[in-house]
Amino acid sequence: MNLIERIKEKARKSVKRIVLPEGDEPRTVAAAKIIKDEGIAEPILLTKEQIEAPSNKAKFDAYAAALYELRKAKGLTEEAAAKLAADPMYYGMMMVKVGDADGLVSGAVHSTGDMLRPALQIIKTAPGMKLVSSSFLMECPDRSLGEDGLLVYADCVVNPCPTAEELAHIAIASAETARTLCGIAEPRVALLSFSTKGSASHALVDKVREATEIAHSLAPDLALDGEMQFDAAIVPEVGASKAKGSPVAGRANVFVFPDLQAGNIGYKITQRIGKASCFAVLQGLAKPCNDLSRGCSVDDIVSTVAATAVQSR
Ligand SMILES: CC(C)(COP(=O)(O)OP(=O)(O)OC[C@H]1O[C@@H](n2cnc3c(N)ncnc32)[C@H](O)[C@@H]1OP(=O)(O)O)[C@@H](O)C(=O)NCCC(=O)NCCS
Repeated sequence: MNLIERIKEKARKSVKRIVLPEGDEPRTVAAAKIIKDEGIAEPILLTKEQIEAPSNKAKFDAYAAALYELRKAKGLTEEAAAKLAADPMYYGMMMVKVGDADGLVSGAVHSTGDMLRPALQIIKTAPGMKLVSSSFLMECPDRSLGEDGLLVYADCVVNPCPTAEELAHIAIASAETARTLCGIAEPRVALLSFSTKGSASHALVDKVREATEIAHSLAPDLALDGEMQFDAAIVPEVGASKAKGSPVAGRANVFVFPDLQAGNIGYKITQRIGKASCFAVLQGLAKPCNDLSRGCSVDDIVSTVAATAVQSR
């Protein structure tokens, strides 16, 4: 059974309510039918007309008032809150916030930023989490790589230029995603660079080295090492020669990129040249919300909803 099938199987065990704010988008509508028919989740399709219908006025007013309370210290007025609540993206976020839905998936129409900003402002980070980031779950045809062909890449979506401390938190959150969502019992985390264990010196390398030290101190039991090049992280022979004695080198299954440019380029190379199938999840939010690529297929939406349902357990 591949990763997606395993995730769907898990989702079916406890059916969660997942709100889809792009509720009149054809791929989303088709996906919602499959999700419902296959018992993966309880999809809630939202449309602007539905939100603004007179029969929904009490609910709408309650969400607008709750949104105002949440953001008034940031300068949001009551009028502006009511306007935002009429946007299915914000309305959907409020449903998740107050517990009327367990998670949210969007992005077939909206850009990543359009979805991330309300998620960060309304749902916010989970208790104890420093920041929101993402993991890309890459399933490669070559099963000798990573964890039986599965590679977790982070952060390829959210943080353009993480500090060393933020990078450390991304590494730890990604290991948790590998464990809970992908079922990887022993995450082995490599913090990637263009240098392996001091082979090059540059401020950019120092940042990755510092991130590794911080992550070690925050999660001493996690198998984690850096800085290292991608080949040292994934190829046993190269790992053995460039990073002898490392608990991770040559057998990493979680790969932390130093910034968003490297991460985003890296996952697309793996997808296009390495023929990996992939999808992303956000990590660190108080409740799960996930983004789709605007080029997503109906199957991509179904998979992302299944992952969101599993994250909400
Ligand atoms: C994530 C992103 C949308 C934040 O947008 P922004 O305009 O910089 O947002 P701000 O800095 O004004 O922050 C907005 C809120 O989010 C919070 N925030 C921003 N980044 C955060 C993070 N990584 N984790 C947690 N909270 C975060 C801020 O604290 C702020 O909260 P507040 O309004 O309650 O004070 C932005 O970093 C971004 O566009 N990232 C790249 C996304 C992208 O295009 N990816 C492409 C790959 S698919």
